[in-house]
Amino acid sequence: MTHTYKRTLVTTALPYANGPVHLGHLAGVYLPADIYVRFKRLCGHDVIHIGGSDEHGVPITITADKEGISPQDVVDRYHTMNADAFAKCGISFDYYGRTSSPTHHATAREFFSEIEKKGIFIRKTEKQFFDPKAGRFLSDRYITGTCPACNAPGANGDQCEQCGTHLSPTELIDPKSKLSDATPELRETLHWYFPLGRFQKQLENYVERHTGDWRSNVVNYSRTWLNQGLADRAITRDLAWGISLPLDAEEAKGKVLYVWFDAVLGYISFTKEWAEKQGDSERWRRYWQDPETRIINFIGKDNVVFHTLMFPAILMAWNEERLDGRYELADNVPASEFMNFEGRKFSKSRNYAVYLGEFLERFPADTLRYSIAMNYPENKDSDFSWSDFQNRTNGELADTLGNFIKRSIDFTNARFGGEVPAEIDLEAWDALGIDWLESFSKLEAAYDGFHFREAASQAMEIARFANRFLTESEPWKVIKVDAEAAGRTMAISLNLCYTLALLFWPIVPETANRIWRMLGFEGRIDDLVEPGKPVWRRALEPGLKRGHKLLGSSEILFTKIEEEDIEPELKKIEALLAEAERREAAEQPAPMTFKPEITFDDFQKIDLRVAKVIACEPVKKANKLLKLQLQVGSEQRQVLSGIAQHFTPEEMVGKSVVLVANLADRTMRGELSQGMILAVEGADGRLFLLEPQGEGICGNQVS
Ligand code: MF3
Ligand code: ZN
Repeated sequence: MTHTYKRTLVTTALPYANGPVHLGHLAGVYLPADIYVRFKRLCGHDVIHIGGSDEHGVPITITADKEGISPQDVVDRYHTMNADAFAKCGISFDYYGRTSSPTHHATAREFFSEIEKKGIFIRKTEKQFFDPKAGRFLSDRYITGTCPACNAPGANGDQCEQCGTHLSPTELIDPKSKLSDATPELRETLHWYFPLGRFQKQLENYVERHTGDWRSNVVNYSRTWLNQGLADRAITRDLAWGISLPLDAEEAKGKVLYVWFDAVLGYISFTKEWAEKQGDSERWRRYWQDPETRIINFIGKDNVVFHTLMFPAILMAWNEERLDGRYELADNVPASEFMNFEGRKFSKSRNYAVYLGEFLERFPADTLRYSIAMNYPENKDSDFSWSDFQNRTNGELADTLGNFIKRSIDFTNARFGGEVPAEIDLEAWDALGIDWLESFSKLEAAYDGFHFREAASQAMEIARFANRFLTESEPWKVIKVDAEAAGRTMAISLNLCYTLALLFWPIVPETANRIWRMLGFEGRIDDLVEPGKPVWRRALEPGLKRGHKLLGSSEILFTKIEEEDIEPELKKIEALLAEAERREAAEQPAPMTFKPEITFDDFQKIDLRVAKVIACEPVKKANKLLKLQLQVGSEQRQVLSGIAQHFTPEEMVGKSVVLVANLADRTMRGELSQGMILAVEGADGRLFLLEPQGEGICGNQVS
């Protein structure tokens, strides 16, 4: 992919406005996208970041019902909450929309109409549960009943929480509507299906084209679907909350678009709204309908196929037979793995989470941004813990970056009147021991390749280097004998501060802005960046000349996190973990019980041997027994075994089995039995023999 693009459109998965976003969301999607976007802006690239709330879908109406409020109330609450939390965290959206907006409704309906007009949708009539009291069709989650698999009451129409079995509502025993308690009736209903299969070939080509540059998880999920063959997907629902179909016909009444059909189009709607706000309502087309724009969708791994197959298929359907107004497909879909929290998956339904807004009430955004960047779940699940957060904040941000900046600025303020005391010695700068070009190209490659952990550690490496340089140069000692030499050290240190401010800005923007201000610049780095102005490259070279005036005062960039700061958090976790464990225990089947303990010597008394069945026949008048002749090394044994209902004599011959060889002889039905063979019973009563596999083991001890 050597293509150079004129501009970039970055989108981030629209979080459901059905709960607060947590640190897992931040780590997988929003922070990496923001770091990337900021880096591109710093490079002077034309880039916009579009996101917003996903405000439709059944879970939202369920929350509303539970709380006795309207779905609109639910989405208003969480849209505001999440937009605020993101802003507080420095996630610099160019636009943060919501799918309940009129523009979005119009866009989604326009797409539906276009595809309907082309005759691409398939209509299918099916039987679905209808609540006669509420007068509404019921989606799966609105139906409850007894689980056919485990008999637990209160199973949902899509799944039994008790045993985890996936269900369809018609399988429930004694189904009831959650809306009214009525017994639902099956009625015919019409739905629109999107024939994904029609685009199978095109989608295969799309994915194949990107096997080299997409992450392997993205390619693999997509291929798995493609290999199974793409089926028709229902894109309408009988539901009161959502985007109604743009059709007048009676049969379209009461139906809305399936939430995923509309949500992905939110990216487009919000770009339109952004353009409107820019005073150029056509500007969105540049980002969606120009091959010179690079589109990147940041998502979590659970959203892959919606972005690599469904959304592209919708756009392909739109583009079909069109010469103008054609949409471009995403060039990359960086999907993250999951970030766990203290060793466990975040779970909204189990209330096991740390919510972004709450976190930021206690700790500064930049400490979180840095720690999370260092835990970015790029190729595998990662883990965030309070102790890791504390260690990184104290050891890396405070002791390394913060300490270096503060010492440089304080010493200059105190001893050199708050001015850069010397012209930078370029030879000394180049001889510092950093290969600037190499460091920078590494950093650039890390940002560009979405390797954000590497970018953050690379930046911290440079801070570490700077901190060491200052410590080892000892200007506070040198100044007593050679003020000029100390001044030269400070000129280098201050320029390192300047460089660090710029190169840390994508990761810890507030900190970078504060450094910027202490260095005597007005305004923020945020206001400096604009398309066509490559500020990034300025970090490569010393930017502070002799005589440049610093602000004259300094502030502490990072406060250390003490044990007592995180203690309440650890307590909270303990409670959450205990709660989660209680719940899991309650969901577990009966606990395992074992026979009383034996000693090792007891066990050693049992002589287990590998034996081969050389002959086998039924035992007269004993329909459960088989009579086996076994070869045990050089010996032969006869054993009676109660396996006749599971194995025929013929299939037993030739098998290797495990024999308890020193069991006292017994006589059963007048026949001698010299030992016993081992087997295990499966869940449904089937019997499995222990059959050791291997060459030359007959007669050998099993230990
Ligand atoms: N709301 C979905 C989720 O949280 C993501 C939607 S992404 C979009 O999983 F592109 F469809 F908007
Ligand atoms: Zn069940």
